[in-house]
Amino acid sequence: MSSSSALLGKRSATEPGSPVLVVEDLRTRIHTPRGDLQAVDGISFSLGRGETLGIVGESGSGKSVLGRTIMGLYTDGPVTTVTGRVTIAGKDVHALSAKELRSLWGADVGMVFQDPMTALNPVKKAGVHLTESLRRHRGMNRSQARARAEELLNLVGIPEPRRRLDQYPHELSGGMRQRVVIAMALANEPALLIADEPTTALDVTVQKQILDLLARLQGELGMAMVLISHNLGVVAGRADRVAVMYAGRVIEMADAATLFEAPHHPYTEALLAAIPRLHQPPHVRLEAIDGAPPNMIAPPVGCRFAPRCRYAQDDCSQVLPVLDPAAVDGVATPGHSFACHHPVNGGRH
Ligand SMILES: Nc1ncnc2c1ncn2[C@@H]1O[C@H](COP(=O)(O)OP(=O)(O)O)[C@@H](O)[C@H]1O
Ligand code: SF4
Ligand SMILES: [Mg+2]
Repeated sequence: MSSSSALLGKRSATEPGSPVLVVEDLRTRIHTPRGDLQAVDGISFSLGRGETLGIVGESGSGKSVLGRTIMGLYTDGPVTTVTGRVTIAGKDVHALSAKELRSLWGADVGMVFQDPMTALNPVKKAGVHLTESLRRHRGMNRSQARARAEELLNLVGIPEPRRRLDQYPHELSGGMRQRVVIAMALANEPALLIADEPTTALDVTVQKQILDLLARLQGELGMAMVLISHNLGVVAGRADRVAVMYAGRVIEMADAATLFEAPHHPYTEALLAAIPRLHQPPHVRLEAIDGAPPNMIAPPVGCRFAPRCRYAQDDCSQVLPVLDPAAVDGVATPGHSFACHHPVNGGRH
């Protein structure tokens, strides 16, 4: 197998130490026939080179809208209203022209979605998906692009890459298709990879292979990665930091070890309790979180988790808790913040 360092012909324009991704007070409002829906409601974070941020939360919490808004796929216009700022490799994403945005997608940021077929054209061979991008963004000729495409398929663990280049998406398994999509996302060595439920559509053994592949490539290529999943177990062991989303907001963020060992938000605690444990016999009922997330068109006043929270008190349904740094003896704990009036595990603001 060719070494991935051979692929690092081009270096990211990002200065060492400066963040690859900065998200500042991002808000995405979707205008629907039933009313306006605040799908992303005031999210801020930054991500450095080589760092992986896991974003977790139940279905409908706004993870995909956040990922797509970061990519510049939702813009400020008649269908959606976007405020705040996203900066990728120093570029203000929502200030880019359509042409500049396409070049950002080709070069600075790659994406992998849940269903590989959304990224693959069924009438194009696997190799063509790769060579088109390499020729357009890297200026390669046909034979250079084909050689690099073969190298990329090798990098993502596809056996017999030369033969696979000439196969159509329907001739590949789901796992192989997702590997092709990952190769496409990595073709131009982006500074940032956004992976939105990259394995949810795959069976369990393939899921682990694909997640391990992403983690390995992310480390070898030094990319920053946003790994989005509804399953906290998927990001466990693969993210440096984890942000937990609920009803469009980040309600807790910490380095992964802290979040898993001592979460302060009751929702994080409940999500952790819902992770399936491998050693549990299958008949043991997992503790799922009772109730449903709020209606995002008219969310409750105060804490949006209050109707489902076992620790809720009167103030919870009156005052919206904001994401503030956790503290020990009045001193802020770097990197750990949560939004709750009555935190668990000894949490304090
Ligand atoms: N195109 C759309 N039109 C209307 N509502 C949408 C659209 N896309 C997402 N939503 C709504 O936005 C909220 C967040 O959705 P999403 O980001 O897909 O959640 P997640 O990825 O966490 O499952 C949900 O309430 C969803 O129904
Ligand atoms: S603010 Fe209140 S309702 Fe919300 S999570 Fe904390 S304890 Fe529960
Ligand atoms: Mg989603």
